[in-house]
Amino acid sequence: MSVSAPTLRSELCARLGILYPVVQEGLGPYKTVHLAASVSNAGGLGTLCIPPLTLPPDEGARVLREYIEETCQLTDRPFAVNVPVGVGSDGQMLPFSRTYVDAVVGAVKDPAIAARLRVITTSAGAPSAVRSSIADTDLLHMHKVGGTRQALRAQAEGVDVSVASGYEAGGHTHARPVHTMVLAPNVIQAVDIPVVVAGGIRDGSTMAAALALGADAVALGTRFVATTDNRDWHPNYACAVRDFKEGEDVTVQAIYGPSRMLDNEGARELSELNERADLSHDAMTAWKDERLIAAQRDGDVVRGIAPIGQVASGIHDIVDVAEFLPRLVADAIEVLRRTADRVTSQQSV
Ligand SMILES: Cc1cc2nc3c(=O)[nH]c(=O)nc-3n(C[C@H](O)[C@H](O)[C@H](O)COP(=O)(O)O)c2cc1C
Repeated sequence: MSVSAPTLRSELCARLGILYPVVQEGLGPYKTVHLAASVSNAGGLGTLCIPPLTLPPDEGARVLREYIEETCQLTDRPFAVNVPVGVGSDGQMLPFSRTYVDAVVGAVKDPAIAARLRVITTSAGAPSAVRSSIADTDLLHMHKVGGTRQALRAQAEGVDVSVASGYEAGGHTHARPVHTMVLAPNVIQAVDIPVVVAGGIRDGSTMAAALALGADAVALGTRFVATTDNRDWHPNYACAVRDFKEGEDVTVQAIYGPSRMLDNEGARELSELNERADLSHDAMTAWKDERLIAAQRDGDVVRGIAPIGQVASGIHDIVDVAEFLPRLVADAIEVLRRTADRVTSQQSV
């Protein structure tokens, strides 16, 4: 893929052969096949996520394989799969994490899949337990962190790219709140590997800000929910992002750490359930999954759990990915140029 318009140098782009240093991040636990394919087709890196956690492992692995194969039918460009590697209350990595990493590692044994499925993004915990099986493949390993110590640890374990995701991000966020403007430069200065910045990116100026901090690429979650290409989800969700106002989000403890979501009936019920000692981990997972699916598939953004980033307060439209992506990058370039133009050696009072 080539364009004559100016674009941005990025190690991620060079390694994957993608045009724009823009990642559509994991938006689980439901299907994002059409969205991921659209983002990859438009020159960014689309990401699939794992299916609902309530599926038995074999069934879940089969569904993920279907998502992967379906995406391969829709794009011949590189794409990623996100697997959260959270830790349960017993301190062990959640069993589904191993299942899904194995499913991804197994899928890339097929050369037709390996030509497209080029990246695995782990998140929500430390990648230690799954690192060696990923290292045995040609997959680029990106790992999402919310703190500099986690980034250094992931680098020491051999991950290829760090995703520094600030606390304002939608969905599972981090136990210790460090926001993008603090986290991104800290991580960028601490590690030697490329850093993708996530949390609060929605347009040219926010992308330019991340690049000015030294980001190799940016990752967006909430902005991509509000696209016409997010066809696997109910359109109510995109409307909820578009209509969201500052302060309408809340973070609630959810399965493996705090999650930022719409402050609605579902979020309030989840907070109440967290106070109950009689509910097992499995019962809580089932309840939360059902409410996530209610929002994502059925469009119930009142009683459903609807992860959303604070960035939604600056999103006022529902866009087409193919139009949005080149515009995002062109606007970021324009902001960087305008900013450089402000540099002057003349003193004026
Ligand atoms: C609806 C939704 C679902 C998400 N699900 C996941 C997930 O399954 N795995 C994950 O690592 N991050 C998940 N996230 C976080 C995103 O991958 C991304 O890091 C975040 O949205 C970036 O910040 P932004 O929302 O400000 O763009 C989710 C975010 C949203 C909005």
